[in-house]
This record gives sequence, C-alpha cells and structure tokens, in this order.
Amino acid sequence: MKFFIDTANIDEIKKGIDMGLVDGVTTNPTLLSKEKKDPNQVIKEIMSIVSGPVSLEVISKDREGMCKEARQLAGLGENAVIKIPMTEEGIKAVRILSQEGIKTNVTLVFQPIQALIAAKAGATYVSPFIGRLDDISSRGMGIIEDITTIFNNYGFETEIIVASIRNPLHVLDAALLGADIATIPFNVLKQLISHPLTDIGLERFLKDWGSIQR
Ligand code: G3P
Repeated sequence: MKFFIDTANIDEIKKGIDMGLVDGVTTNPTLLSKEKKDPNQVIKEIMSIVSGPVSLEVISKDREGMCKEARQLAGLGENAVIKIPMTEEGIKAVRILSQEGIKTNVTLVFQPIQALIAAKAGATYVSPFIGRLDDISSRGMGIIEDITTIFNNYGFETEIIVASIRNPLHVLDAALLGADIATIPFNVLKQLISHPLTDIGLERFLKDWGSIQR
C-alpha cells in the first residue's frame, strides 16, 4: 500500500519525506490556496523535492482547456499526474490525455460507477472522497469496497487513491480492503505512528534502565 500526502505545504511534505512515509503527493486548488503564495511557484517547489507521483489539478471546465492545462503541467516532470474532475468534459479530457500518455487522476468521485467510467476512459488513478461521504451520513468506505470489486472483475489497472481521509481508522479500513493508495493529511500521517501505550511503555523502559545505572 502506498501512502501519499494530501497537502501543498512544503514543510509538511519535507517532514513526511523525512518520516519515510511519502510515496507521492496530492494537491488541489483548496490546498494550494491555503499556502497564500504563488501556486505556480509552490507547484514547482513540490516537483523539485518529490520523486513519486504528484497530482496537480486543472481548473478549466471544458475539455480543450483541461487538456491545454494538463499538457503544461505534465511538462513539469515525468512524475506529474493531472487531476481532472469527474464531469462529462473531464472524462472526455481523460480519454484524450490517456491516448497521449499523460497520467491522470480523476477526482471528486462519490459513487462506484463514476470510478468505472473513469477507468474505462483510461484514468491512471481514481480518487473517491470518503470523508465527505461520511460527513453526509453515507458510508464512504463502502464505495472503496465496490470500486475494488468492479476493478478486479474487469482487470482494470486504474489505481484507487482513497482520498478525503480524516482519521487513522480511514487508513486502517482502506488497508483492510486492499486499496492501492491512501492520500493522507499530515496530521493524520503523524497520528498513524503514535500510540499512548508506546509512549508509556518507552517511558517505563527508560526509567527502569536508569534505576540500574551506577
Ligand atoms: O484529496 C482530496 C482531499 O484533499 C479532500 O479532502 O478533507 O477536503 O474532503 P477534504
């Protein structure tokens, strides 16, 4: 299972890399807007420090605009993946970009048939947003299970990025379902490592060790 970090914050990405937990990065316009910097500069900096796949989202709504943006973003590096929204125009763009060998990540997926359509269009990745489904009392992880079954049924190579992750249990459930990738915010990435009993246990070991030192 691969861990991507879901952020556009350079400091978080560097810390995640240092922890050895960053196989790739996903960004979106909201995450970039939080940085309050020139988004193009932030994107270039991310590309310069990350070797794994980096998802960069288009903002055009029409196929031509999306493809134009996608070609420019793809020029930033071989690891650039173009995030395309799950719309009719988006799917048309994915089909064109896939034929051009440009990697795509179909985003804002909220039901399994959307993922099937994205895979049929040749998407490299699909990003189902599970946290936002949980937010409206719909079982987000249910669609990961369904998408996994559908992709296995037909042998699609499209990888599933479990997105909109809010807590460590989301990562656990994604792993139990065999999801390819979880894209994880930095605060959750840190939560994955720690456990209060680990801290208490370590403190006791060190105290006991100290008691036998002369
Ligand atoms: O990768 C998608 C993610 O950034 C969306 O997360 O928390 O805005 O639903 P959230």
